[in-house]
Amino acid sequence: MTSPPPKVEQLYVSTLPGLELALEAEASALGWKPRRAEGGVELEGPAGLHQEANLRLRTASRVLLRVGTFRAGDSDTLAEHLGAMDLSRLWDGRTPPKLSVSLHRSRVPGADVVFSAAAYAWGLPSVEQAGALEEEGSGPGLTLLVRVEGDVFTVSADTSGEPLHRRGYRQEVSRAPLRETLAAGILRLAGYDGAEPLVDPMCGSGTFLIEGAWMSMNRAPGLTRAFAFESFPGFDAEAWARRKAQAEADALPAPRAVIHGHDINAGSLGTARRNARRAGVTLALERKDVRTLTAPSPGPGLVVANPPYGKRVGEAEDLPGLYRALGATLRRGFAGWRAAVILPDDTALVKALDLPGARSLPVRNGGLRCRLLLTDAASTS
Ligand SMILES: C[S@@+](CC[C@H](N)C(=O)[O-])C[C@H]1O[C@@H](n2cnc3c(N)ncnc32)[C@H](O)[C@@H]1O
Repeated sequence: MTSPPPKVEQLYVSTLPGLELALEAEASALGWKPRRAEGGVELEGPAGLHQEANLRLRTASRVLLRVGTFRAGDSDTLAEHLGAMDLSRLWDGRTPPKLSVSLHRSRVPGADVVFSAAAYAWGLPSVEQAGALEEEGSGPGLTLLVRVEGDVFTVSADTSGEPLHRRGYRQEVSRAPLRETLAAGILRLAGYDGAEPLVDPMCGSGTFLIEGAWMSMNRAPGLTRAFAFESFPGFDAEAWARRKAQAEADALPAPRAVIHGHDINAGSLGTARRNARRAGVTLALERKDVRTLTAPSPGPGLVVANPPYGKRVGEAEDLPGLYRALGATLRRGFAGWRAAVILPDDTALVKALDLPGARSLPVRNGGLRCRLLLTDAASTS
């Protein structure tokens, strides 16, 4: 028997380092009242908010549903609290839940204590550890995250499953693709509103272009993928179908402005084209060298770039020259346009790019410390 849905849901939504403000702004624009928290935001709202957050948030990595918070000073008290938690809406009682435990200034000597207490509390021989959630997601069944701070335990259920950057459209990648969530966050931090032209001069597999197109079409990012919450016993399938139908109705058939992608590599453009087709968007793609690129008409708009980082053999020596060429194209070829460039946190490359007056924000790309340089229209002209 599942218990009735709670009147109020509390969520913790995580994001990539550097995108916290973008996530907060996105959640506010959806009419919610996010509270900033370490690595993400907290949200509170009516039953089903976790469905809506998974469906709509472009910059979220994962949506966790709070199950309970309690204090426990020893393993008996811990087992008692874990056993008293109502998991009937989340767990079918058969496939054992997986646990991910994080300890912060905790009095608990090790995560093993939590695993043993959980197995005892739920009458299981043992409880498995969840895999690397950021990379692989939580897989089938219930995954509970237990955060221990001092003697305070916060237990949350992962409602996302596969990480939210996996939208489903990117089944092929070119070299060093950006995560979809990072691309969406950069577009938001650059103030992209979906009504202005967008250009990616080094588009690779087309992540900026497709995320930009979906923003421009007001198309929800979670419309075509599956989520962990769909397998919960308390899953409200009718509410989910209504939410998806509403999101479909809210989406425009095409972007409101032209979205241009270029790359020097013809294979990358093919990848971008096929990914775009899977995402249901039309892009203007043309093979060009960034050294000779000029702004399309109509303009101005936003030009966004993720140049190579020199991690591949033979790439590193040409890198400063390529960054100088990209900078010159942005300053001269895109006069009056805003620019956003994500590059390694490397002073020589920032210098080579030479974007006077650019704001610099710290971000991470695949674990690498990077900078996001943002210029307003005045400094590219
Ligand atoms: C880091 S990748 C971009 C990845 C892309 N953001 C994605 O998500 O797939 C850099 C891209 O720059 C392209 N590139 C390198 N030199 C170029 C040049 N001179 N002109 C245009 N594109 C270039 C590469 O072919 C590669 O696709």
